[in-house]
Amino acid sequence: MDGELTYLGQTVDAATALALLEWQAELGADEAILDAGIDRYELAQRPRPAIPAAAATPAPAAPPVQTDQADQSALIAQAQALADGADTLAALAAAQEGFDGLELKKGARNFCFADGNPKARVMILGEAPGDEEDRQGRPFVGRAGQLLDKMFGAIGLSRDAVDAEAAIYLVNTLPWHPPGDRDPLAHEIALSMPFLRRHVELAAPDIVVLMGNIACEAALGRRGVLRLRGQWGTAFDRPVLPMTHPAYLLRNPPAKRAAWEDLLSLSARLDGVSV
Ligand code: URA
Repeated sequence: MDGELTYLGQTVDAATALALLEWQAELGADEAILDAGIDRYELAQRPRPAIPAAAATPAPAAPPVQTDQADQSALIAQAQALADGADTLAALAAAQEGFDGLELKKGARNFCFADGNPKARVMILGEAPGDEEDRQGRPFVGRAGQLLDKMFGAIGLSRDAVDAEAAIYLVNTLPWHPPGDRDPLAHEIALSMPFLRRHVELAAPDIVVLMGNIACEAALGRRGVLRLRGQWGTAFDRPVLPMTHPAYLLRNPPAKRAAWEDLLSLSARLDGVSV
């Protein structure tokens, strides 16, 4: 019948099929993983093969993936040695991209190192690449990134500015996209920290803006951005300013007012006014 599809052997209408698709996207199944599409109409017409008796026996459960403390410490030491050995941002990018200690690397499309002007006085530290960032290999290029550009544009700062005074430089705590946009895990952050610390050292911004909870955790060792926001602190041997993440502001527009206060505080600090 027109407008009807088959899903797990049952006929569903187009609206139900769309709802199922949205549900899968919410669960994190947000991309097709085959090179070529499958014609489900044609498949549904084919007779189902008989299941051999042996196949009915459940396969033994795979052993749990274990990263014990010793493995983790060895990987952190490896990351540290790679980061320490990098004397330029280009060398650091190559070293971090080549590091295989993060499982996330296997599922990501692109390595996402940085965007904007590396000479900028202001570095923005985010969380991890989202889907669009994963596609483009650049931080903050999705919806949240577009809002971020508007926010910083309002105080005269831009990722495209050549002049370091008017520029921003954008990096993430993690360089690889976590599946389904889940939060980075503690061990993933720990494995990324040697690269992040070196990244800040080499770019040497005057100020680092900590965008959201994950950036606060990475830089300050604690979450709670709604309490921390607007309060200047110190991390990476320089002043840091926690702010609510633009993705949060998209979901909670009234929080934009407080974010605007934080931007003004940043602007005043850049102008040499003590805040
Ligand atoms: N959120 C982040 O924290 N970073 C990005 O690059 C995109 C969304």
